[in-house]
Amino acid sequence: PPVAPFAISFDHEAARLEPEGPTLTRRMSDLEGLFADHEAWQAAVADGDPVVYRVQSSPVPEVDRELPQSITTIEPGTTGGELWMTKGHQHPNHQGEIYLGLHGAGGLLMYDGTRHEWIDMAPGTIGYIPPGWAHRSVNTGDEPYSFLAVYPGGAGHDYGWVLEHGMGARAYRTASGHELRPWS
Ligand code: PA5
Ligand code: NI
Repeated sequence: PPVAPFAISFDHEAARLEPEGPTLTRRMSDLEGLFADHEAWQAAVADGDPVVYRVQSSPVPEVDRELPQSITTIEPGTTGGELWMTKGHQHPNHQGEIYLGLHGAGGLLMYDGTRHEWIDMAPGTIGYIPPGWAHRSVNTGDEPYSFLAVYPGGAGHDYGWVLEHGMGARAYRTASGHELRPWS
């Protein structure tokens, strides 16, 4: 059955939702096969396997017709020069999603299998993910980057799609900031 109406307190400063649902922690070892530089990835796993990002969910269930939310916080860092990022996924049934930037500086990389798009994400930016676009978030700054996601409960997470098709581009640290390079 659907959940009853309830209030969620959204602590913008702390980037937290209350009441809390499950929190997911992704360490470097969870990002196998995603960074272009496999040796740099292996070295980072061996060197303490750092937390790359956390996802804190609201208690709204991930089932069809519900509208759950979550806050993702990506730590700053690079692996082989590539900026720390989420795994990235496609929604199997191609539903849309919105992200709202909360803290820090980031990017929203999207790929529809043919072309990629990049949205610079700052506090207050709403990034729109249209149906059919795989999406990955990147921390482009030197502090944690947080954003709120709101998505259809039945959207699902197809991580295999990204392993198979890639994301069209990769985001790297440069002397003056960051740049996108073609998929490799
Ligand atoms: O629903 C979303 O798209 C986000 O909440 C992501 O799941 C979150 O940012 C973590 O990314 P990923 O699921 O690709 O590991
Ligand atoms: Ni999504």
